[in-house]
Amino acid sequence: MLWTVFLLLNGLLLLVLLYSTRRRQKNEPPLDKGLIPWLGHALEFGKDAAKFLARMKNKHGDIFTLRVAGHYVTVLLDPNSFDSVLNDNDLSHNRIQLLQRIFSLSLPNIEPAAEKKWMEQHFQGVSLSRLSRAMNTHLKNLLLSNQEGCNPSEWKRDGLFNFCYSLLFRAGYLTLFERGDNAAAVYKEFCTFDSLLTKLARCSLKREESKTANLSREKLWELLSPDWLNGGSESSSWQQNYIRFLKEAGVDAEMQKRALLLQLWTTQCNAGPAAFWLLGFLLTCDEAMDAVKSEIKGLNLQDVSSQHPPINPLEAHRTPVLDSVLSETLRLTAAVMINREVVQDKILCMANGQEYHLRQGDKVCLFPFLSPQMDPEIHEDPQVFKYNRFLNKRTMKDDFYKNKKRLKYYTMPWGAGRNVCVGKEFAIATIKQFVLLVLTHLDLKIDEAHGTFELPAVNPSRYGFGMLQPDGDLQVKYQLKRRQHEE
Ligand code: HEM
Repeated sequence: MLWTVFLLLNGLLLLVLLYSTRRRQKNEPPLDKGLIPWLGHALEFGKDAAKFLARMKNKHGDIFTLRVAGHYVTVLLDPNSFDSVLNDNDLSHNRIQLLQRIFSLSLPNIEPAAEKKWMEQHFQGVSLSRLSRAMNTHLKNLLLSNQEGCNPSEWKRDGLFNFCYSLLFRAGYLTLFERGDNAAAVYKEFCTFDSLLTKLARCSLKREESKTANLSREKLWELLSPDWLNGGSESSSWQQNYIRFLKEAGVDAEMQKRALLLQLWTTQCNAGPAAFWLLGFLLTCDEAMDAVKSEIKGLNLQDVSSQHPPINPLEAHRTPVLDSVLSETLRLTAAVMINREVVQDKILCMANGQEYHLRQGDKVCLFPFLSPQMDPEIHEDPQVFKYNRFLNKRTMKDDFYKNKKRLKYYTMPWGAGRNVCVGKEFAIATIKQFVLLVLTHLDLKIDEAHGTFELPAVNPSRYGFGMLQPDGDLQVKYQLKRRQHEE
């Protein structure tokens, strides 16, 4: 027995040594393995990826290879060179492991290209206006029913994050999923699951957290499971169409149920936090709030609401100020990581002509949050919220430069290439509609009783997982406007 343990330990040590003896070859990016064998930089990466990668960029420049939990990851931070990764077929977008780890989900029969096509069909074109109309109706109903039974002259109090996320989540759930009766319960359970999601992805859950995450996932599978999955009558909704798509691809009933949680997360986890940051920036920047309110005043809301069927004022009018505020919000708070796997040894060509050899089996990672989004060469005072950063008088500003070269990618909240967000148009319409509804129906203010007038800091563990979330909340108070559109 002792001998077996001894031999196993020896084998393990040999493996660790083998892994830690990788050396940088000619033409490869700078290699930084970190001090801890096998783990490398995993701990620092998971704690605050933005801070860590900014430090690595200062040390090594726009491209470098890191050891992270046994993997070698080449990080590319030059937006002028992003296309060499985004358009390369030798770099594959593999999400199998993550789906298994986070959602306990395996979809081997689903072709990524077929799924993308299905999503495009159901979130864009004709489907987009249908979904946007349904979303508007749900948002308005929820916002107004939130006020029912309240004395109109009394202020309601809440954290701004919870206010935005719960409203947008429930309206989104009612639009895409069935069982409107359990929207509040799904939101509550989803918050528990989402709070553990980054640790699930990094396999860093403690024992108790792991139990909570598993239990929460199971509860959500049940809550999301529509009656007709168990033989009840079918209805025609986005959710039902999605299940049909899975069935046709040969996915079994259990995995169909689990896939619904993946879709709930994909479709609902970003819009609420984005609306929180947007309203938070407006509430803490008078100049921006005045500019947005003045633009809304010019929209002539009465004019469009008298039409049959009513036209969404945001479709009927251009809103360059609100558009710039949204782009600026997302520049500061959207932090996706675009990951690819190197399928076979290849040469990566940078925009400056330099070429680097990438090894088969390594990973490549783009982190647009650091550059272009927070790059001082591209955006002056990148930490500062400037509501008109993306505004050219009455049009959107889209000319930004690095090294005197005009950039194709000057902000990338929606990803790009094969990773681009399929729900981008729907998300933009939703967030703008929500802001319009809040600003026209409610008096919303920072709750001075809490003595905090600033936005909370970002939760640093969420870098890499789409929209950032705050560490804490901004307390606000709100009441229905006496006479709407009076301002
Ligand atoms: C502010 C809001 C949003 C942001 C910033 C955002 C951002 C993104 C990003 C960066 C990706 C690529 C992720 C990756 O490949 O790693 C993505 C994918 C996706 N998004 Fe969004 N998203 C938002 C809202 C939405 C909404 C409201 C929907 C639909 C209701 C949606 C549907 C999707 C879908 C279906 C994908 C997967 C695309 C694929 O795998 O091909 N998103 N989103």
